[in-house]
Amino acid sequence: MGLMYYRPPSSAVWLIIVPLVLLAAWYLGVQSSKNSILVLSSQPSAKNVTTSTNLSATVEFSPPKFAAELKKDQLPKQDGVDHVTRKEPQMIFSKKKLSNLGRVEAGLGKVRGAIREAQSNSNNETFDDSEYVPRGPCYWNPSAFHRSYIEMEKHFKIYVYEKGEPPVFHYSSSEGILGIEGIMIHQIEISKFRTNDPEKAHVYFLPFSVFSIVSYVYVVDSHQWGPMKNTVADYIDGISTKYPYWNRSLGSDHFMLACHDWAPEISTAVPYLYKNSIRVLCNANTSERFNPSKDVTLPEIYLPQGTMKGLIGGPSPSQRSVLVFHAGGIHGYIRQVLMEKWGNNDDQEVQIHEYLPKNVSYYGMIRKSKFCICPSGWEVASPRMVEALYMGCVPVLLKDHYVAPFSDVLNWKSFAVEMTSNDIPNLKKILMAISQKQYIKMQKRGLQVRRHFEVNFPPKRYDVFHMILHSIWLRRLNIQVRDT
Ligand SMILES: *[C@@H]1O[C@H](CO)[C@@H](O)[C@H](O)[C@H]1NC(C)=O
Ligand SMILES: *[C@@H]1O[C@H](CO)[C@@H](O)[C@H](O)[C@H]1NC(C)=O
Ligand SMILES: *[C@@H]1O[C@H](CO)[C@@H](O)[C@H](O)[C@H]1NC(C)=O
Ligand SMILES: *[C@@H]1O[C@H](CO)[C@@H](O)[C@H](O)[C@H]1NC(C)=O
Ligand SMILES: *[C@@H]1O[C@H](CO)[C@@H](O)[C@H](O)[C@H]1NC(C)=O
Ligand SMILES: *[C@@H]1O[C@H](CO)[C@@H](O)[C@H](O)[C@H]1NC(C)=O
Repeated sequence: MGLMYYRPPSSAVWLIIVPLVLLAAWYLGVQSSKNSILVLSSQPSAKNVTTSTNLSATVEFSPPKFAAELKKDQLPKQDGVDHVTRKEPQMIFSKKKLSNLGRVEAGLGKVRGAIREAQSNSNNETFDDSEYVPRGPCYWNPSAFHRSYIEMEKHFKIYVYEKGEPPVFHYSSSEGILGIEGIMIHQIEISKFRTNDPEKAHVYFLPFSVFSIVSYVYVVDSHQWGPMKNTVADYIDGISTKYPYWNRSLGSDHFMLACHDWAPEISTAVPYLYKNSIRVLCNANTSERFNPSKDVTLPEIYLPQGTMKGLIGGPSPSQRSVLVFHAGGIHGYIRQVLMEKWGNNDDQEVQIHEYLPKNVSYYGMIRKSKFCICPSGWEVASPRMVEALYMGCVPVLLKDHYVAPFSDVLNWKSFAVEMTSNDIPNLKKILMAISQKQYIKMQKRGLQVRRHFEVNFPPKRYDVFHMILHSIWLRRLNIQVRDT
């Protein structure tokens, strides 16, 4: 025992996450059985929030207690939540279901063992992979990641609830900057990870689309969350009445997936969805209670022509003449500060614009630049991070309260620069302080991790589809569901 899964990016994170998790666990009456979650010591830093998955810190769910101790007044006080009342679920289980769940959990137990072993043999690659072997400092622990990835390919089973009609369910648009929502929903439905037998599933997918709910249920300018939240609440009512799985874990082994900004708020429609379920969200704003120990960041990816065609690749570092580039509307305070300090200046090395002149290509500028700023807009997510990685520009994450995608396996600091809004005045100084040698390393690692952000039709191993599933898989490995 006592092995952590991935080396935590900054131990500071545990000071933030762990008290929250313990508090939540206490609220929920979750039994933290054999091992409790341990904290590494460091100073807390809100900017450094990211997650590492600790397999030793497995939380065991004991539903009856869980349910009995969850009181209405302990639910998050956010708009809408207080209006939703849920009775305590009754646990009804047959012997058969018990043993099926037991089998699923026993399988996961073996996987945890295999990952722990890979983790302790971190410099000893005992198995080969003709396609790709994760290596190097861009991963917290390449061999633990490799092992859990391979185990996912072998075992992971997702049950997709059939209830619901398109376009609100089982469908979302695959176009525009939120298109990853539609792409993922569709790919999950047709993927080999899908099982038609809910008794064998590790996780249960709630196939509603927040983008579609906003498009079809929301009445423009009505400022009413109610109808949208009811769509989600009614859906979960339906599946929790028809099937035993939601009540069994109070949603902890269920996941939703959405790129729309409103998804976090809409997820408050059902307290257990908000507090327990795995929420796969582009809007991964920890200030809006995105919880990296159970939620998953979905990268926002903009494919103007629906595919990656023409987006991948860019010149080598020596052919990048601009130090740092950004162009985009002044949405939100970070961009305002950025423009005020650096916008439209005479310094040819620092190209910060609101709008580019018509004869200047946006992608062309990314390819010409060493560093590309990826600032928050109105919300934390933006497609710029992935655009920069696609085109070989080192991303500069200028976001507060954001959890970068795949932080559970990727060490972002090794291939990206992380800044806070307070660093904006020193932008040039900070980037100039990165030596050419260091820059070349970072850029090369960016090219290496690019595969994890690529969108393929059909999906390819280690691409963004598989990485998102892998993040969900890790969240599932971190809990145990028990019948009684
Ligand atoms: C993970 O859990 C184990 C045992 O509970 C503990 O020894 C270890 O320090 C933890 N690691 C992290 C990163 O919290
Ligand atoms: C993250 O934390 C480390 C120390 O734990 C610190 O050196 C670094 O400046 C922090 N980064 C940010 C962006 O706050
Ligand atoms: C789950 O719990 C809800 C609320 O208590 C209840 O209405 C429903 O019948 C339960 N579902 C099953 C399958 O027992
Ligand atoms: C790697 O591990 C295997 C089995 O765990 C062992 O047989 C082998 O000697 C190890 N190799 C190295 C280089 O440590
Ligand atoms: C764009 O047009 C302006 C004049 O309108 C010109 O000064 C500038 O050099 C052009 N830039 C490029 C990259 O062609
Ligand atoms: C993140 O959440 C906080 C708290 O709701 C909010 O103030 C902020 O505007 C959100 N978005 C960004 C980009 O920080």
